Amino acid sequence: MDKEELMAEAITARQNAYVPYSHFKVGATAVAADGRHFSGANIENASFGITMCAERNAIFGAASAGVRKITALAVVADTDGGVSPCGACRQAMTEFMNADTPVFLGNLHGVIEETTVGALLPGAFNKEDMHNA
Ligand code: THU
Repeated sequence: MDKEELMAEAITARQNAYVPYSHFKVGATAVAADGRHFSGANIENASFGITMCAERNAIFGAASAGVRKITALAVVADTDGGVSPCGACRQAMTEFMNADTPVFLGNLHGVIEETTVGALLPGAFNKEDMHNA
């Protein structure tokens, strides 16, 4: 599966975004180590604070299906460049993805920026930080 195909899946997932408040649709597709793909879109709520981002819907969907290792993530929105994941999603990525796991950030015009979880959130809080607990 190349990055263009993965981004196409995220673009398809984006169609299911529920965004009556922001009108900003986001799609994401996570690739599990076992090869399965899990997609998500952002789902908003009249109680704005409980809105869930596309990336976390994809990641949590994978985790809910038993996935504990994600090997790639694509995210897409109608942005000028590749979409920038929010801080909460960057932290969520660190739970099931390694620092060097590729993240593809796209838009609707063919831009695909390749980065990594570690580059998106240097110094992320992780389970090792709780060793003294
Ligand atoms: N959003 C995402 O889905 N992912 C991000 O990383 C950034 C923000 C969504 C949340 C909300 O529905 C809309 O974009 C505007 O913030």
